[in-house]
Amino acid sequence: MALKFIDYGTPQYKEMIELRKMILRDPLGLKFIETELEREKDDILLGSFDDDVLEGCCLLTETKKDTVRLRQMAVLDGLQGKGIGKALMLFAENVARDAGYKNISMHARASAIGFYEKLGYHITGNEFLEVTIPHYEMEKEI
Ligand SMILES: CC(C)(COP(=O)(O)OP(=O)(O)OC[C@H]1O[C@@H](n2cnc3c(N)ncnc32)[C@H](O)[C@@H]1OP(=O)(O)O)[C@@H](O)C(=O)NCCC(=O)NCCS
Repeated sequence: MALKFIDYGTPQYKEMIELRKMILRDPLGLKFIETELEREKDDILLGSFDDDVLEGCCLLTETKKDTVRLRQMAVLDGLQGKGIGKALMLFAENVARDAGYKNISMHARASAIGFYEKLGYHITGNEFLEVTIPHYEMEKEI
């Protein structure tokens, strides 16, 4: 497994969009909007690769001077439950810390709460709907 930065607009970025579409949007019958993706040029984009094939990804968006929001966390079907998500999260935390951030927050799908709790994140508010499904805001000081 190789954990790497992904540059916006590159072939690897296109691979990242495909993975996110397949894992996060298609099952909900949703698509990405062009303006939504354009905003990612300022984000920190991260991927987990095996033999240069993308297996998992996430991104970090600055929301406050000391906080980034983790978004679009996804691991390929068939490879979930093998530690890729955890490795990506630890990489994302190191990257955020190195960039000077003190907190990571996220809008976590209710189905993934247990995954984030194991990594030390805690729920900070009530359930809300996003992309048609229940989410919770979660946070961790890094
Ligand atoms: C959620 C997701 C990113 C986790 O990545 P993963 O590679 O499958 O997770 P890992 O194998 O690294 O799991 C790490 C630990 O979390 C646990 N875990 C993984 N997914 C979990 C879940 N949905 N609920 C509860 N625990 C979970 C694992 O059992 C493992 O526990 P252990 O350390 O005690 O063995 C991945 O399953 C995924 O892409 N799911 C579909 C998309 C999604 O829901 N993304 C999150 C959007 S907020």
